[in-house]
Amino acid sequence: MPASRPFECVRVEIDPERAEWASAEAFEAGAAGVEERDGEGCTILLAYAPAEAAAAVEAALRAVAGEGAVATRERVTPRDWPETWKQGLRPLVVSPRLVVRPEFAACELAPGQREVVIEPRQAFGTGAHGSTALALALLDERLAAAAGGRVLDVGCGSGVLAIAALALGARRAVACDLDPIAARETRENAIRNGHSVASFAGSLDALASGRFDLVVANLISSELLPILDALVDRVAADGAIVLSGLLLPERAGVEARLAARGLSIRAARDELDARGDHWLGLMASR
Ligand SMILES: C[S@@+](CC[C@H](N)C(=O)[O-])C[C@H]1O[C@@H](n2cnc3c(N)ncnc32)[C@H](O)[C@@H]1O
Repeated sequence: MPASRPFECVRVEIDPERAEWASAEAFEAGAAGVEERDGEGCTILLAYAPAEAAAAVEAALRAVAGEGAVATRERVTPRDWPETWKQGLRPLVVSPRLVVRPEFAACELAPGQREVVIEPRQAFGTGAHGSTALALALLDERLAAAAGGRVLDVGCGSGVLAIAALALGARRAVACDLDPIAARETRENAIRNGHSVASFAGSLDALASGRFDLVVANLISSELLPILDALVDRVAADGAIVLSGLLLPERAGVEARLAARGLSIRAARDELDARGDHWLGLMASR
């Protein structure tokens, strides 16, 4: 990015529950970075965009924030902004076997530890979100016991889960996302990490029949629960499924649905985030 390129910062106060959605819309509209700060009873989003995209970013943020949202725009110098939103992104030490990190946050690896480098771009999945971290930990646990197989990552975002699976010894990875940007970034991130992921834009239905040794899906529950049976259909007889993006109170319902399909929960992890969301990840097999 040329240093002289004019940038604007769009500031909006928003309901904390809408912040992640608004941030995704801002990226979609052309923002290059989004910083979140705690406000009084709200989240303050600062979206940094090239000047030519700033109006579209403001419109996108206003559309999510709702009528009467307070939004302002100001010109910033490029040297001021890029570091601030990166400050919250640190290496995620998933386990003694795996670290996930952005390129700008170097990390010394323990002997035998592998790393996956994901540069924050438009697709979701730097490892910073609790649901991604839970999925990574469960995936690591499963692959430590059963590496070498085929992995399917549904809702791949940046591709972080599929790429981590390959780094941890999976033989092949297929990934899909409804968002074409995610499918593309997954391929690019895989190459950057020295792997190859067959990713496509679309839903699971578009995938020719086939079963996988490990199926992973980190989707919010309103997206995950409708496709739960279709995900289970893709699990090989001796395979496993990792589900994340669920909330803790949803465990009993998901457990019952898995049991009805012959799967039992083998591992469960949960994490309470700063916003009070209590995320749940499950690993199940027959
Ligand atoms: C929470 S992000 C997860 C990204 C990444 N896998 C991670 O763990 O960080 C969920 C992704 O699922 C995608 N998605 C939502 N519903 C989907 C569906 N039915 N099929 C495929 N992708 C879906 C979204 O576009 C989004 O990129």
